[in-house]
Amino acid sequence: MGVVLSLGDGKRAPASIARLVDLTKADMARVNELILSKAGSDVEMIPEVANHLISSGGKRLRPMVTLAAAQMFGYAGEKHVKLAASVEFMHTATLLHDDVVDESGMRRGKRTARMIWGNQASVLVGDFLLGQAFRMMVEVGSLDALDTLSAAATIIAEGEVMQLGVAKNLETTEDDYLQVIKAKTAALFSAAAEVGPIIADAAKADRAALRSYGTNLGLAFQLIDDALDYGGNTQSLGKNVGDDFREGKVTLPVILSYRRGTAEERDFWKRAIEQNESGDAELERALGLMNRYGAIGDTIGRARHFGEIARDALAPLKGSPQKSALLEVIDFCIERAN
Ligand code: IPE
Ligand code: IPE
Ligand code: MG
Ligand code: MG
Repeated sequence: MGVVLSLGDGKRAPASIARLVDLTKADMARVNELILSKAGSDVEMIPEVANHLISSGGKRLRPMVTLAAAQMFGYAGEKHVKLAASVEFMHTATLLHDDVVDESGMRRGKRTARMIWGNQASVLVGDFLLGQAFRMMVEVGSLDALDTLSAAATIIAEGEVMQLGVAKNLETTEDDYLQVIKAKTAALFSAAAEVGPIIADAAKADRAALRSYGTNLGLAFQLIDDALDYGGNTQSLGKNVGDDFREGKVTLPVILSYRRGTAEERDFWKRAIEQNESGDAELERALGLMNRYGAIGDTIGRARHFGEIARDALAPLKGSPQKSALLEVIDFCIERAN
């Protein structure tokens, strides 16, 4: 089953992050260098595991947002590069941990680190990267940036733990779900955006604008991630479609289908999500029900709603190439297939 993720107005090319990539190209080259050097350790297994994930790419969306957000307020120093690398390390660490928690087998088109080196190595190398992220933040020397990013680190962990609490529970409400994704995903986008104006010493209102942009972009991003887990394509995604279903994760497409279904359909969801009857045949039926109740389309609709909030958050800021690039990121996150 395919899902049409484009805005479908037929009037413009698909959203891309080309402008963001272009504006941050020189800085990102330095971020990538820093990432490779800080993944180094005399303990051989650390760079081996870390580089497996780092070298397989990833969109690098969060560090590019940090760089553009610093440039936007005229920042002319060097510190945004270290902050951007810290942000990507925090992200990489959470992916290593998340794949253990979710028992995932594929990430960025490759076998997950946990499948090759095991869960223990995956967790511990994640810890190493998180430690390196904090050392870089300390080198930057901005207590405000350190405060923002360390708060995000604790909130992400809270989000992942909160998610454990609602796993396999079909009584989870949309509000509960939003609370989880705000913590596990939006917190890092928010911090990534806010440290830009922080390091540029921008006005308080500018910080608040970027923070709100990041939060709402992050909510949209995760809503689409959860739609893609059902409506996407394993190859373009680089992750296995259907993982959330097999794992019994209660994401919005499931919540909407369950709530809108008949008593018999709700029994099906109970068996699938709560009792692990989640083979290929069940996944087919789940997709059919999502289609019938418009659950994926409405999940994308919710993402668009948060995308609009992100857009309005930037509205008062004066025009700049960075602002245009950050606005394009919103559409990209909603239309993305990977
Ligand atoms: C994956 O994030 C984790 C989520 C928050 C859904 P990305 O999709 O940004 O991962 P990479 O870095 O591009 O692989
Ligand atoms: C991502 O949640 C959130 C974090 C990595 C903290 P998911 O579990 O939905 O991400 P994927 O689908 O594994 O990338
Ligand atoms: Mg996961
Ligand atoms: Mg996911």
